[in-house]
Amino acid sequence: MNRKTLVAALVGALAAGGMVGGTTVAFAQADVIKQRQENRKATAGEMRAIKAVIDSKGDAKTVVASAAKLKQLENAFDKLFPAGSDKGETKALPTVWSDSAGFQAASKAADAAYDKLAVAAGSGDLAAVTAAFGDTGKACGACHEKFRAKAN
Ligand code: HEC
Repeated sequence: MNRKTLVAALVGALAAGGMVGGTTVAFAQADVIKQRQENRKATAGEMRAIKAVIDSKGDAKTVVASAAKLKQLENAFDKLFPAGSDKGETKALPTVWSDSAGFQAASKAADAAYDKLAVAAGSGDLAAVTAAFGDTGKACGACHEKFRAKAN
């Protein structure tokens, strides 16, 4: 194989590899978008469960488990935004990638709110849980404000 043929063969192999790679990436992106949306659905589910405890003046201590679950979900969430996953059926705004430090900070702020919620729940004081729940909701909203497209 002379040099020219070798280069042509290499370019051909790269192009073919790129195409296959592109398809794989597209599938992986749809997957990761779904995963982060499922993550947020579970997050909203925990928030509803906590609200139910508050509304029914239930046992504040049961919120400890929900706060732990919220933390676990948040820790997974910010890793579900690989480059390229801004395309597709997603409400994530381009700012997630253009201001990734701000996005990480918003996630950290939510994480801190869950910690406070856990402490409040651990104290068994429903009034403290109610206050911490309100602050947690604000942390959700603060991130959505900058990083999530409004629902239609
Ligand atoms: C660090 C930023 C951030 C925080 C904090 C955050 N969210 Fe979100 N949330 C997003 C983004 C971005 C999306 C859009 C994801 C997508 O469509 O790819 C989203 C989507 C959602 C969705 C829609 C999921 C779906 O069905 O597609 C719900 C519900 C939601 N968030 C609830 C919450 C709740 C409740 C909290 C707080 C406990 C919260 N989020 C905290 C960024 C955040």
